[in-house]
Amino acid sequence: MTVQIATNIVWHGGNVSKKDREELLRQKGVALWFTGLSGSGKSTLAGEIEKRLFAGGHLSYVLDGDNIRFGLNKNLGFSPEDRAENIRRIGEVAKLFADAGIITLTAFISPYRADRDTARGLLKEGEFIEVFVKCPVLECEKRDTKGLYKKARAGEIKEFTGISAPYEEPVSPELVVDTARLTLDEAADLVIRYLADRGITRQ
Ligand SMILES: Nc1ncnc2c1ncn2[C@@H]1O[C@H](COP(=O)(O)OP(=O)(O)O)[C@@H](O)[C@H]1O
Ligand SMILES: [Mg+2]
Repeated sequence: MTVQIATNIVWHGGNVSKKDREELLRQKGVALWFTGLSGSGKSTLAGEIEKRLFAGGHLSYVLDGDNIRFGLNKNLGFSPEDRAENIRRIGEVAKLFADAGIITLTAFISPYRADRDTARGLLKEGEFIEVFVKCPVLECEKRDTKGLYKKARAGEIKEFTGISAPYEEPVSPELVVDTARLTLDEAADLVIRYLADRGITRQ
């Protein structure tokens, strides 16, 4: 739990509600929370879904791991404490984006169950959609898109998820996307269909 430090602050509501914005956009503001090992396909999948949603007239926005660490979270490292704060801030940002009515796609390893649950707790029921991007570590290592596994094996990166730091698999994610078995197109189909079936996207 992060404690509230400031006192004498009062919440200020606006004149346009989340529901109003959702009506305008013909969609619901949600957080699609992709979690999985490095190289499992979070960024690729989020990018494909963003492209498809846009083509279908829906507004989404991707919050991606490294990009956020260049800015908002540049003062955080990879210790368990910093990873927790990293995810807490992303959760708060995702909550703001979802409140704006945007289909928010977050692509962070987010290896700790407790941290993901913290993010879940920030959003309302149904607004937090945990997508487990499932892929065995050996397959991720074979892909090694950023050359990070090689560095981790050589001991050049400490606390690397899947090698020298834990990854806690989701217990009951809303969606599981197995990228070792599915093509990118099939994986994206699954998520797009989920959004349509639940009325998160409307025509
Ligand atoms: N079904 C799939 N979905 C997403 N990526 C896939 C899939 N199959 C193979 N890949 C490949 O796996 C790699 C995933 O890399 P990336 O998206 O950067 O992973 P992450 O963001 O999880 O670290 C890419 O090279 C991508 O082309
Ligand atoms: Mg990525």
